[in-house]
Amino acid sequence: MNNTYVSRVGLCVGITLIAAGAVAQEGNMERGQAAAASCSACHQADGSGMNVPDGESWPRLAGLDADYIAKQLHDFKAGRRDNATMATFANMLNDQQIADVAAYYSQLPATQGQGGDEANETLLARGQQLAERGDWNAYIVSCQSCHGPGGKGVGDTFPGIAGQHAGYIHTQLTAWKNETRSNDPQNLMGAIAKRMSDDDIQAVSAWYAKQPASADQESTQ
Ligand code: HEC
Ligand code: HEC
Repeated sequence: MNNTYVSRVGLCVGITLIAAGAVAQEGNMERGQAAAASCSACHQADGSGMNVPDGESWPRLAGLDADYIAKQLHDFKAGRRDNATMATFANMLNDQQIADVAAYYSQLPATQGQGGDEANETLLARGQQLAERGDWNAYIVSCQSCHGPGGKGVGDTFPGIAGQHAGYIHTQLTAWKNETRSNDPQNLMGAIAKRMSDDDIQAVSAWYAKQPASADQESTQ
């Protein structure tokens, strides 16, 4: 274990503690289901979202951490995360409704990511390398050092990215690279995405889309 590894783990733990200090509002699933009626046109009734090649992909919300979902909705509302489509819908929700929809989507079973099937072996191998080991020549830390083993997420700070749609992962990494998304603590993702080539972004997006999002899903595959 070298010093770089130790300080990296220390950084992740520190951030988790800061985020855990925020008091989350209690959400109600039944009210959340009602409030989610306006969301299903894009995120779908089962929360699976949709991969839209060359367009704006709709992320899967099913099975994401409730506090992470709530944070994103507050960020869209406050303009800290900039997306015209979501600003409109987040603005329709008050704080209680945000907690309710977050509770609702978080308990829906995770569905499989789309958009990774056309990737070839070489691209997928590169994606797996970045996800599991990183690339020290390019100063890219492995994704799983923060997003957890298999990219299944850690607490409310590091979202699950396994089984998310390739198009959505791709848009987000590109947004961080181009500095159009910068709403995470200390802009960790910005620093990482800037070190990635467009091929790297494509590779890691395709690989994660093909991974199971949860242990339940793994057992049915
Ligand atoms: C017209 C389509 C559309 C509708 C309707 C819509 N969304 Fe979205 N949503 C999107 C898109 C596109 C994104 C990705 C935005 C981006 O790239 O930053 C998104 C992102 C999100 C995210 C961030 C997910 C993540 O993993 O970070 C959340 C949470 C979310 N939407 C919740 C909702 C809720 C709750 C509603 C209903 C009140 C809703 N959305 C309605 C299209 C839509
Ligand atoms: C040092 C920690 C760290 C590392 C390493 C890291 N991430 Fe992240 N990532 C985060 C944090 C924190 C967020 C949450 C951002 C927020 O709160 O809006 C995030 C969010 C994301 C999201 C958005 C998910 C969503 O639902 O909107 C994607 C996609 C993502 N990371 C991909 C990756 C990939 C791919 C890698 C590896 C190349 C990686 N991350 C490495 C910390 C990290």
